[in-house]
Amino acid sequence: MSSQSHTPDTGTHTPATWTLPVLPLKNTVLLPGMFLPLSVGRPGSRAAVEAALASEDKVLVVVAQRDASDDQPALADLYAIGIRAVIKKMARSENVIELLVQGVDRVMLQTLAQTEPYLKVQVQGLPVAQETSPDIEALHRAVIDQAHRVLQLAQPEGEANIPQMLAQVSGPLQLVYLLGSMLGLDVTREQALLEAGSVQDGLRLMNDYLAHEAQVLELRNQITDKARTEIGKEQRDYLLRQQMRAIQDELGETSPEKADVEALRQRFAEAKLPEEVRKEADRELRRLERLPSAAPDYQVTRTYLELVLELPWQSATEDHLDLSNARAVLDEDHFDLTEIKDRILEHLAVLKLNSKAKAPILCLVGPPGVGKTSLGQSIARAMGRKFERVSLGGLHDEAELRGHRRTYIGAMPGRVLQALRRAGVNNPVLMLDEVDKLGRDYRGDPAAALLEILDPAQNNTFRDNYLDLPFDLSKVFFITTANVLDTVPPPLLDRLEILRLAGYSEEEKLQIARRYLLARQLEQAGLTAEQIAVPDEAIRIVIGRYTREAGVRQLEKALGRLIRKIAVRFAQGTTEPVTVRPDDLLELLGPQRLPPDRIRAELPPGVATGLAWTESGGDVLYVEATLLPSLRKLRLTGQLGDVMRESAQAAQSYLWSHAEMLGIDPRRFRRDGVHIHVPAGAVPKDGPSAGVAMLTALASLYTSIPARRDAAMTGEITLAGLVLPIGGVKEKVLAARRAGIRRVILPKDNEKDLRDVPEEVRRELEFVFAERVEEVLEAAVPGALHAMAAGH
Ligand SMILES: Nc1ncnc2c1ncn2[C@@H]1O[C@H](COP(=O)(O)OP(=O)(O)O)[C@@H](O)[C@H]1O
Ligand SMILES: [Mg+2]
Repeated sequence: MSSQSHTPDTGTHTPATWTLPVLPLKNTVLLPGMFLPLSVGRPGSRAAVEAALASEDKVLVVVAQRDASDDQPALADLYAIGIRAVIKKMARSENVIELLVQGVDRVMLQTLAQTEPYLKVQVQGLPVAQETSPDIEALHRAVIDQAHRVLQLAQPEGEANIPQMLAQVSGPLQLVYLLGSMLGLDVTREQALLEAGSVQDGLRLMNDYLAHEAQVLELRNQITDKARTEIGKEQRDYLLRQQMRAIQDELGETSPEKADVEALRQRFAEAKLPEEVRKEADRELRRLERLPSAAPDYQVTRTYLELVLELPWQSATEDHLDLSNARAVLDEDHFDLTEIKDRILEHLAVLKLNSKAKAPILCLVGPPGVGKTSLGQSIARAMGRKFERVSLGGLHDEAELRGHRRTYIGAMPGRVLQALRRAGVNNPVLMLDEVDKLGRDYRGDPAAALLEILDPAQNNTFRDNYLDLPFDLSKVFFITTANVLDTVPPPLLDRLEILRLAGYSEEEKLQIARRYLLARQLEQAGLTAEQIAVPDEAIRIVIGRYTREAGVRQLEKALGRLIRKIAVRFAQGTTEPVTVRPDDLLELLGPQRLPPDRIRAELPPGVATGLAWTESGGDVLYVEATLLPSLRKLRLTGQLGDVMRESAQAAQSYLWSHAEMLGIDPRRFRRDGVHIHVPAGAVPKDGPSAGVAMLTALASLYTSIPARRDAAMTGEITLAGLVLPIGGVKEKVLAARRAGIRRVILPKDNEKDLRDVPEEVRRELEFVFAERVEEVLEAAVPGALHAMAAGH
């Protein structure tokens, strides 16, 4: 429980007024200085919260409603006194906003400013004078004494630091508010505390409440003592509960929450739990029973117990690992990917032979939309296991993985445990998506936590901070995914078995669309293949003109859109089968988004076409060079990384040092500087593979001969003019093809990588394999070498 002191305004000047959104509360009252977690679900309330969130100071008015069953309270249905509150924390989920608010100061609700879309009211500050007098002093002490007594009665072996905590509260009224929020009073009584207009009134009320509470607790403890000496534990508990109920009835406070604890106890009795867990749960249940049901701790403990109940401590699905069936399932869900499927099956075979084997963890690497996630689902299906996914993208905080200690406000278990709870079994296939996007900062190192989660030597007693009990993760089948590997922390990389998915050619996409995507979209729209025909011709246009990607995600979306449009026609009464012709695409999908040929129509001297490897596959990029007359330096722009800058310098130096041989007047280097720019945006670019493109751009600049617009190149260069091999050949070649390039210039040493490129793509392109930069220039800038040699 937290408290924070806040002194209300005490000035004698006219009270301040504000016009603020109003958040009505059921069953509870927020008191000044106190924190309150809230789940906001009602649309009007959500709108009020959104309005407050959009404001600079995130303030709204929180006020209790007179009748908790009223779902749309008007101004008259609310108490007249509420509180200005600040939103301290917020999390949105589907239909609910989770908030943590803190009460600031009391206000009187005055005039209605609006009712739609949310209640907005003009309110006036209601300061309480901070007076002191011997009377007040005496009452204050009485309240502290009473409070000690009540807390002791409630939790004889309870937290020892409570008296200390009470002593630290900064003023009598603040103490009243703190106790008010701890005792679990009903709304009327809490509201009376809020409405107390003087320190004295507040203390008197609290004194009465405490006296009443002490009476109830004393009765309870007498019974406990008696029962303890006379009867066995089981019986005693039972009797106790019966008696408690009787007392509560007598005092007019039968609470539904007590029944709630009872029900929870019942569920625990039926659940299958390891001994250690049961012990801890029993301890918490007993604690829950003794807590006032509206105390913040009550909900915290209850939520914790729910988690313990729902975690799959011992339930698991049974594997049916039949390898030929597994292959059939993989084939059923995914086109081709033969090599990947073979590796997956090998992996499964190892597991089948020795389920205790410390097999490395699969890591599927490739651009978006190539089927990483869906392969994971297939693997689960092939093994007969459940599938769950945890996205690690942008995760900085170790606690996201491992949970927050329960003493934090709003603490939750980490994502791994949450996924297991969703799965309901302790041996699901758990996909850890985007391990390459893990962050790391002052909040700890999530990669280290991840290593522990994945390590078979440690993960059988994984300890989540929130759960604070060991949980066995060793039966989980982990699969990871990444777009690129450079950002995966090396210790993690060591544990992974890498499977690369490079992206698909147009022909492969066509096959995937025809055999997989269309069928799925038809099924989703409730149509059959007899009702709609989408000929290859049309699919090709969707691939080429409406999408641009290495994977098939946009393609899947576009086909889905197209099928749904046609489904509407059937819903409206069409009965004839429909064939989608290329001409229909304009109506179904809108105008084409990409020109047939995406490469530039013309290249001025100084521009060369490079090929880059990006997270989303490959891409064509342009390197532009221009002279900076009488500015003797090399300027580089376009978000280039260090390695790329070095390539540019190497290109420049090579040309300079070979100027004589190439026939360039060396004085030009001394006289003029060069500016190299790689456009296309805010995308950071790096890597040595643009070396040849930089060199080509510079050579074209110095000779004033334009480079071929249909030739693209990639390769690293050395100062001696060698062309060195690079990575990502398949992605780059596919990107070149997509863009409409005809000639691809590659390092000689990369020739062998072409076997990964589909046959039909290879057939459509012309390849030049270069060992030296002169070969690149000859293939990319016709006549340049000659011009150079001739001293152009
Ligand atoms: N080879 C393939 N065969 C059939 N469908 C595929 C293939 N590759 C991708 N898909 C489909 O494309 C969609 C996007 O794939 P997804 O698994 O989300 O990609 P990723 O996780 O790599 O970003 C899914 O519907 C998936 O089934
Ligand atoms: Mg994915």
